[in-house]
Amino acid sequence: HAPRDAAQRLLSWYDHNRRDLPWRAKPGEVADPYRVWLSEIMLQQTTVPAAAPYFRAFTERWPTVRDLAAAPLDDVLVAWAGLGYYARARNLHKCAQVVATERAGRFPDKEVALLELPGIGAYTAAAITAIAFGHKATVVDGNVERVISRVFAVEEPLPGVKPKLRALAALLTPEERPGDYAQAMMDLGATVCTPRKPKCMLCPWSDWCAARAAGIQEQLPRKAPK
Ligand code: ADE
Repeated sequence: HAPRDAAQRLLSWYDHNRRDLPWRAKPGEVADPYRVWLSEIMLQQTTVPAAAPYFRAFTERWPTVRDLAAAPLDDVLVAWAGLGYYARARNLHKCAQVVATERAGRFPDKEVALLELPGIGAYTAAAITAIAFGHKATVVDGNVERVISRVFAVEEPLPGVKPKLRALAALLTPEERPGDYAQAMMDLGATVCTPRKPKCMLCPWSDWCAARAAGIQEQLPRKAPK
């Protein structure tokens, strides 16, 4: 059972341990949906350190979604080289063009509308909704699945258990600061609740983590045999 102030404790941990990443608005700044979208697409296939230089190069060269939409596809593909999965880059460019031409350069702020756009799936739609627009949405990636499977000691294996992990993640998601909360979960999974040797001593949730209480934190999440 999660304590009532679980989300608040994670947010307060985030306030003290927030990573300064190039796509994150500084505290008090308004988030730019274009930058949130671009970073989340890049981060789906690569790590934070690998994505950062690409993010800087893209946003310097194409500061707005309209600039990216107006770029020749070949320029975008060349700039994307090294990130892999060229279909992603093609969809990125197509999405920029749809937002530029059909939506006056503005990203929609609802998950259902975001899902209509090329290359935007459930993860990206939730991330943009929460991080760029500050609306409640449950953002679930591999980091979040690991954190949730551990705090609730969920023993059923991935991938079958994904819907259950999503439902548990939704239960914990607060009304306040949903964007910071989503990124706090990602940072917790990336830096503290790591796949190997999690740093439970530094975790704001260690006192109620069921996997830690049972000493099985490093074994979760379990994976179904291939
Ligand atoms: N991985 C995917 N999205 C991220 C974000 N916004 N911050 C840190 N890691 C991420």
